[in-house]
Amino acid sequence: MRTLIFTGKGGVGKTSVAASTALRAADMGLRTLVMSTDPAHSLADSLDLEGPLGPEPVRITSNLDALEVSIYHDIESNWGVVREHFSQLMADQGVQGILADEMSILPGMEEAFPLIRIKKHKEDGAYDLLVIDCAPTGETLRLLSAPETFKWAMGMFRGAERFLVKPLLRPMSKITPGLNKMVAPAEVYDAVDNMFSQMEGVTSLLTDPNETSVRLVMNPEKMVIKESQRALTYLSMYGMTVDTVVVNKILPLDQDSGYLNHWKSIQQRYMHEVEHAFTPLPIYRVPYYSEEVVGVAKLRRMGQDIYGSDDPTAVRYKQAPLDIAKVGHGSYSVKIKLPFADVSQLDLFQNGDELVVQIGDFRRIMTLPTSLAGLEAGQAEMEGDWLIVPFGAPVGVR
Ligand SMILES: Nc1ncnc2c1ncn2[C@@H]1O[C@H](COP(=O)(O)OP(=O)(O)OP(=O)(O)O)[C@@H](O)[C@H]1O
Ligand SMILES: [Mg+2]
Repeated sequence: MRTLIFTGKGGVGKTSVAASTALRAADMGLRTLVMSTDPAHSLADSLDLEGPLGPEPVRITSNLDALEVSIYHDIESNWGVVREHFSQLMADQGVQGILADEMSILPGMEEAFPLIRIKKHKEDGAYDLLVIDCAPTGETLRLLSAPETFKWAMGMFRGAERFLVKPLLRPMSKITPGLNKMVAPAEVYDAVDNMFSQMEGVTSLLTDPNETSVRLVMNPEKMVIKESQRALTYLSMYGMTVDTVVVNKILPLDQDSGYLNHWKSIQQRYMHEVEHAFTPLPIYRVPYYSEEVVGVAKLRRMGQDIYGSDDPTAVRYKQAPLDIAKVGHGSYSVKIKLPFADVSQLDLFQNGDELVVQIGDFRRIMTLPTSLAGLEAGQAEMEGDWLIVPFGAPVGVR
């Protein structure tokens, strides 16, 4: 099963592009599920459904199902017994109601459930393709980094429960009335163990470029491009592979449209920036339609305009074009893939959190992660197709 994750800045067209990709794959004969993980769901609206979508798949066309995840539903069905036990413990300490409920939710848990669903769908084999319509970039990055946060929190939680609470309280509870209810019933331990094992393998599924690709949806606008560059950097750091860039809402050049002509030339300029920032990733271009993209017929047209005769599920790019490794205390090595680069023409500039690599006319602008933004780039060198840039503390700060 392939998984395609669509993300990008708010309002750029993630839901429309995700739904149209899913529809196109389904029309090609693949059993496809499109799933929204954005708490502000709009997938049902995009598909122009009469009623809302829920956490169970609903049939849209003969090969396409859709659902909108409900964190509440997932937490209740997987973690309900743990939540109840903790609420009870908290109530005994005088913490009541919603606060007690909230305290049983571990960091990373809300993000973990959608990821667990990906793994479950892969295992049960009912679909050939899973298309995920994500919340805007920041949330998506939180989602995709959740396995680490969540594993850590679960580890702490399990450790405390297993090694402290249970062994100490169980024998004492037999002789001390009232302690009994503090000892978690067996099903609480089962739920915790179950959550833990469900998370196993999620990271390797997400980071296998043959299984999972992230597709960045953007518009030709300055802030949107900037946010997408940041997303590419962070996704690469998490080991995820972006295989395609989709630039949506491009004003058609062949129509004269008064004051929009100025916008068209601005968009053209930003299209060049997109090319500079995201090469060698394949870039798909989607026109700005004269109406909203709502309903199966319009989504079909969008799918056709994006992919043409290409297979929408093909792995378009396999290698993270960027790799950042910590090589010592306060020093890092940034590896940037620059195939076909003529090193004799290489220039590097650093501008705040941006690293600009210029080779002749070719310019690659990368957003550095925060931990590197204050450090200074050292002497760069090529190793095969890769440019290696060492980063260390600036002189005088060491
Ligand atoms: N190429 C296009 N031409 C015209 N309208 C479009 C195009 N792409 C998307 N839209 C419209 O723009 C609006 C936003 O699109 P969409 O909901 O897909 O964006 P999104 O990135 O998922 O937004 P959000 O961040 O709110 O989830 C919708 O009304 C959609 O129909
Ligand atoms: Mg959306």
